[in-house]
Amino acid sequence: MSKVLLLSGLLTSLLLAGAAQAAEGDAAKGRLLAQEKCARCHNIEKGAAFKLQPPSFQAIAIYRTRQDIWGRIISPSPHSGMPDMMWALTPDQVQDAVAYITSLDTPVTLPQ
Ligand code: HEC
Repeated sequence: MSKVLLLSGLLTSLLLAGAAQAAEGDAAKGRLLAQEKCARCHNIEKGAAFKLQPPSFQAIAIYRTRQDIWGRIISPSPHSGMPDMMWALTPDQVQDAVAYITSLDTPVTLPQ
């Protein structure tokens, strides 16, 4: 009996660890995804020019919260020109994209 409990406890923690990881997203995968699906409109590179329309990913990382970025990927402002990614990406891919964008939140040096 106790072995069964121990095993189920272990499985639960493994599942929770897996879920936490999925919720965090994988920035490296997100970068590849961004190159494939976002770069034709957004400037996706760190230190790249601060493009405004649409905003560069680094600008988004600096000005938006993680939650806000997530929301704007799955449910963009209407008529903004941002395609609705809710159906184009899996939930994991959305998390990966968020992880990549938030990884760009570092100070920038503006050109003189
Ligand atoms: C067809 C061009 C296009 C593609 C492809 C595209 N976007 Fe966008 N995106 C836009 C435009 C246009 C906006 C709106 C800017 C505005 O509201 O002024 C936008 C806005 C956003 C915003 C909100 C920015 C903000 O701070 O208001 C996020 C986050 C975003 N895009 C992420 C992504 C991600 C991630 C991908 C790829 C999976 C992607 N976009 C692909 C054009 C695009």
